[in-house]
Amino acid sequence: MDLHHLQPPFIGRTTMEDTQRTSTTPTETVKQNQRLVFAVNGERFELSTVDPSTTLLQFLRSQTRFKSVKLGCGEGGCGACNVLLSKFDSTLKQVEDYTVSSCLTLLCSVNGCSITTTEGLGSSKDGFHSIHQRFAGFHASQCGFCTPGMCVSLFSALVNAEKTHRPEAPLGVSKLTASEAEKAISGNLCRCTGYRPIADVCKSFSADVDMEDLGINSFWKKGKSSDAKLQKLPFYDSKQICTYPEFLKNEDNPPPLLKYQKRSWYSPLAMEDLRSLLESISAESDVMVKLVAGNTGIGYYKEVEHYDKFIDLRFIPELSTIKRVESHLEVGATVTISKLILALKEETNDDSCSEGVMVFKKIASHLEKIASESIRNLASLGGNLVMAQKGFPSDIATVLLAVKSKVAVMTGIEKEFLTLEEFLARPALDSRSVLLSVHVPFLKSTKNGYLDKSNTKLVFETHRASPRPLGNALAYLNASFLADVSTCDNGVVINSIQLALGSFGIKHAVRASTVENYLVGKMLTFGLLYEALKLMRAAVSPEDGTSHPTYRSSLAVSFLFEFLLPLVDAGASNISGCINESTYNSPRVTFDHGERTQLLSSAKQVVESSHEHYPVGEPIIKSGAAIQASGEAVFVDDIPSPLNCLHGAFIYSTKPLAWVKGVKSKSEKDLHAVVSFRDIPKGGVNIGAKTFFGPEPLFADDLTQCSGQRIAFAVADTQKNADVAADTAIVDYDIKDLEPPILTVEQAVEKSSFFEVPSFLYPSHIGDFSKGMAEADHHIHSAEIKLGSQYYFYMETQTALAVPDEDNCMVVYSSIQVPEFAQSVIAQCLNIPENNVRVITRRVGGGFGGKAIKAMPVAAACALAAHKLRRPVRTYLNRKTDMILAGGRHPMKINYTVGFKSNGKITALHLDILLNAGMAPDISPIMPWNMVGALKKYDWGAFSFDIKVCKTNHSSKSAMRGPGEVQATYIAEAVIEHVAAVLLIDVGSVRETNFHTFDSLRLFYGNDSAGEPLEYTLPTIWTKLMRSSNFADRVEKVKKFNQSNKWRKKGISQVPILHEVSLRATPGRVSILRDGSIVVEVGGVELGQGLWTKVKQMAAYCLSEVRCDGDDALLEKIRVIQADTLSMVQGGFTAGSTTSEASCEAIRLCCKVLVERLTPLKEKLQDQAGSVNWDFLILQANFQSVNLSASSYFVPEFTSMRYINYGAAVTEVEVNLLTGETKILQSDIIYDCGQSMNPAVDLGQIEGAFVQGIGFFMLEEYLTNSDGLVIVDGTWTYKIPTIDTIPNQLNVEILNSGHHKKRVLSSKSSGEPPLLLAVSVHCATRSAIKEARNQLRSWKGLDDGPESLIQLDVPATMPVVKTLCGLDNVEFYLQSLLPGS
Ligand SMILES: Cc1cc2nc3c(=O)[nH]c(=O)nc-3n(C[C@H](O)[C@H](O)[C@H](O)COP(=O)(O)OP(=O)(O)OC[C@H]3O[C@@H](n4cnc5c(N)ncnc54)[C@H](O)[C@@H]3O)c2cc1C
Ligand code: FES
Ligand code: FES
Repeated sequence: MDLHHLQPPFIGRTTMEDTQRTSTTPTETVKQNQRLVFAVNGERFELSTVDPSTTLLQFLRSQTRFKSVKLGCGEGGCGACNVLLSKFDSTLKQVEDYTVSSCLTLLCSVNGCSITTTEGLGSSKDGFHSIHQRFAGFHASQCGFCTPGMCVSLFSALVNAEKTHRPEAPLGVSKLTASEAEKAISGNLCRCTGYRPIADVCKSFSADVDMEDLGINSFWKKGKSSDAKLQKLPFYDSKQICTYPEFLKNEDNPPPLLKYQKRSWYSPLAMEDLRSLLESISAESDVMVKLVAGNTGIGYYKEVEHYDKFIDLRFIPELSTIKRVESHLEVGATVTISKLILALKEETNDDSCSEGVMVFKKIASHLEKIASESIRNLASLGGNLVMAQKGFPSDIATVLLAVKSKVAVMTGIEKEFLTLEEFLARPALDSRSVLLSVHVPFLKSTKNGYLDKSNTKLVFETHRASPRPLGNALAYLNASFLADVSTCDNGVVINSIQLALGSFGIKHAVRASTVENYLVGKMLTFGLLYEALKLMRAAVSPEDGTSHPTYRSSLAVSFLFEFLLPLVDAGASNISGCINESTYNSPRVTFDHGERTQLLSSAKQVVESSHEHYPVGEPIIKSGAAIQASGEAVFVDDIPSPLNCLHGAFIYSTKPLAWVKGVKSKSEKDLHAVVSFRDIPKGGVNIGAKTFFGPEPLFADDLTQCSGQRIAFAVADTQKNADVAADTAIVDYDIKDLEPPILTVEQAVEKSSFFEVPSFLYPSHIGDFSKGMAEADHHIHSAEIKLGSQYYFYMETQTALAVPDEDNCMVVYSSIQVPEFAQSVIAQCLNIPENNVRVITRRVGGGFGGKAIKAMPVAAACALAAHKLRRPVRTYLNRKTDMILAGGRHPMKINYTVGFKSNGKITALHLDILLNAGMAPDISPIMPWNMVGALKKYDWGAFSFDIKVCKTNHSSKSAMRGPGEVQATYIAEAVIEHVAAVLLIDVGSVRETNFHTFDSLRLFYGNDSAGEPLEYTLPTIWTKLMRSSNFADRVEKVKKFNQSNKWRKKGISQVPILHEVSLRATPGRVSILRDGSIVVEVGGVELGQGLWTKVKQMAAYCLSEVRCDGDDALLEKIRVIQADTLSMVQGGFTAGSTTSEASCEAIRLCCKVLVERLTPLKEKLQDQAGSVNWDFLILQANFQSVNLSASSYFVPEFTSMRYINYGAAVTEVEVNLLTGETKILQSDIIYDCGQSMNPAVDLGQIEGAFVQGIGFFMLEEYLTNSDGLVIVDGTWTYKIPTIDTIPNQLNVEILNSGHHKKRVLSSKSSGEPPLLLAVSVHCATRSAIKEARNQLRSWKGLDDGPESLIQLDVPATMPVVKTLCGLDNVEFYLQSLLPGS
């Protein structure tokens, strides 16, 4: 299908002012260069009035029907907005295709381009593209918010692979390699799936994939041959889509000059034009000018200034070409990083000088780690260096500094050449000065300059330490080292050396000249290296306020060590003349450079489907997956704005406790109102959220109670204007007569500031703690640990649309997990009855608990503003505001006292836990219950605790996937690890010693939760996993590895989890329409967790009990519809992992009634006609007035509402002792889903939760400043897992544990518990660190045995791990080699 043929190009114009299209030809109305012409999915767009600051994303989402382009971050960090941009080179007659982040691309810069979004690939109407079908079939789309961007990234990789000169791929497959396929989505974030299935989709297109490596899917069953599998995959036709429509090729389309009100967009075509333009502008004072290349800089600077003039530099030939001039590469400033990489690689084909080639190759490889491909395709070299000069932590500046690059700069008519070093040291360029080009020298060793010997060599290395190995994360420190060295009989001499370092909390990249000077002319020895490292540590001194300063300096030391040690080694082994690539790979110096050729090796999924309740038990495709991929799925912000719709943005407090004396907005632009608590109608309540434990105000009244508290809602004509108004608002605070805020749990204790926990929710102690302590051989007293928070990072931020309806009613579309509670809150706030408020939720772009309580105020604020202004009001929170307001997981402080026997059996545990709950109760009072539920995973003997829920001046903390349980799991493992460390025994044996027997399980959890003995599957899981993961063998291998590797250590750990859940009452309704199609409504909301899919399966299974002919087709007849609070009451919470099964049970009850009503008629008809099909039966039922709609309210019985989930994981990691990086080599999981209702859905939950857990344990730091204001507020600083940080191999087995009488069709939940399994990654890391520390102790000459305990913080980020491995481990190592040590 060629979409562009299906949709003939039309000529029209769309303006930002009015979106109507006319059929006039452009030349009739506007001058040719005063228009913007481009295509989107084959449709022609022509605009003559464009606000130059408009991004492509803003245009697509607000002015076209192509809403698949999602706003996930607005700063280039998530890939949700990726589109394919295609350009036609009329000289070469070639189309260039590449992905770009549409949130950063300015609309004016796409003149003459064609844009393809996922809608352009196919649709439900025209037929899905094989990419869409495979996303659905490999179960690679859960909430679906990231999926359109993923599809585009993959599509781009496929399109470009076809352009390579590789041999033709077989029919139906692409030329893409499996390794490229995985990397295609390395810049895209997904918070739901854990990436493994997405990687499978990508790899399924590549010619070199081993079909056996592809995971569970709906295309084939086990045992098919590779060829048969290929045949089953939806066919890929590389020629199907034409990315650049013919009509655009024929347009005379010069770069535009556009005016919009006072603003203009210029596209000078020659240096002369640019010069005179700048000259003329210089005469105008107060004119804000922006030179533009790729415009990715706004992703970092988030400039709110409104520029008057935009000058696009990309059409000036001198600025956009790359020339090889004898001794250097002259690169125009607007050349993109992607093009530069290609050029550097091309140069590597020239092997006339292997050293220059090597340097270029390494520079190219370093540049490949900058941002993501969709950024590198836009980002220019010049833009990067100009930003570097302003203080941006650039990689390019560092890399080019070491090779002594030069730059050409134009100021007025002056043109000057500067070294990069001089350029960086100057004040930032003003907007009238232009960086023209960069000269990168093609290097050769200076043989004659120093030692006239043929064994002189250039050595060059670049380094960067960042949380994501493939890029898409700024470096903690980057480095680039170049040395000219000679080997002689006694060793290696340094003739010259350039050591450039950057990104470590310094204004710009610098040379470590003290170290350089020290080294030049000297023979390398261990002693010299040791001294040089000392100088390096002193030279790298991050500015005040930089995070992890000592870590950053230690990285510089590590990198220099890595660079020079092989040379010392080569010298020491007297391999004269042998400095080459292999020098850096010699066995003595095996460092890890973070390169991974294959990100994910084969993963295994072991699932058993059960046919007993067909189609329940089948791994059927998630409902709506294909339309999520094709971008047709409608999320709240995709609903077209009603007429006169306004947009709101929150103004929030930046003070923890202060009087709010006034709020002023600096930007009055199109501001309609600033809504605050004062606008609450008479009789209404200032309420934004409520739970069983109390309300939270919608807005701060006169007193703000935390940083991040909502103060007001700025309402403007567009979201952009509302955001600017809110962002620039000035709040006048006063702290007169106020006590200091309570910011720590210790302060809360001091002031007895607690939330009450209802006694029925406070768990009971077990046993007698004093007695347990008395029985113990050993005691640990009051050990302290702390845990921080975690942010949800749902890909769709909080959003709602409120539309006033007749008769004082309000319809609110909300992305929420609890529509019923939002309805109640809005009614109370507006002082209207609940039946006047209709909250509708169709789908949620990821919730993880964050769209339960925290979504209510968002809906309520829109409703209040809509009520006041009598106009529809919507909001889509920007990522920063979302992160500041979200609350997130509960931070806590824990003290434990534990008594244990010499064999590791714990006899008593007492915990004192202080939870920081923030300003409002939210769900915090259930935290003790949740925590104790997961803490009881081991038989502690006697178990007592004191858990206090502290009320503080922080944003209220809320439920986040596994709330309390994940922290409790960590605490339990910390205790176990501590005991093992004290006793110096294997931690695995301590775990096993403290496993529950079934009796102790009943004692700890009670008979109802524990269920039948057979249901306690943990012991089976444990032994099964030990076998299937080859645990014992791998432990041995890890030991051997650790003995033979100095700078990398491995750790392996097997950990069990227990997670108690409970069911809640849930409503359902099943209605059969005249044509036999079926509509299902449930209380539960589809968040991506597959609730609708399971519900459909359940309805099909139960209705098939009528036993009509052909009831296999029932599944296709069922549609689950959106939650609507006026249609289905008592919908309750979608939370706690059990809403899917409760909703299924509610549907089972409805179907039972319908089956009872239909069966007599069916039997009668069958007697008459012999056979009855479903449609005929329903037709007859209508004639006979059978009631074809049944409702139910499933109320779980008290004795069966609770149960325990079991699972275990083995994880093996490798820690880099020089950088602190932890690679997760393999995770093996077994998780008991009972009889899974849909193994594909459950597998997705297990893998997705596990990876989210990796985020919690290893990566995600959700930090606040001293006022409690969240300071990591975007993708730059908050790093969720990406495809390069998940386990290289992830094997998951879903245990089909057979019959559970009290469970819904014997199934068990999968939403939250598997998140806890990620603690295995943390434990494995701790084990690897222990090895590192033992080695360090031996280097230090300490032989007092292994340490008793290593407390490893959560998250175990690179700085944390490196600190424990020894920030100075390199120096101690060298010291140990020096004579006399
Ligand atoms: C998500 C993300 C991640 C990133 N990660 C990294 C990273 O890890 N390492 C790294 O080094 N960089 C990183 N970058 C920075 C990126 O390389 C720069 O944003 C990019 O190179 C800037 O180029 P541009 O063409 O988009 O510049 P623009 O955004 O167009 O311009 C940036 C600034 O430079 C000015 N300017 C541009 N060209 C010229 C010129 N020729 N003369 C004078 N002024 C000019 C502009 O007026 C503007 O002030 C990242 C960027 C993003 C968005
Ligand atoms: S929205 Fe553009 S990259 Fe995230
Ligand atoms: S499916 Fe990827 S973010 Fe939800």
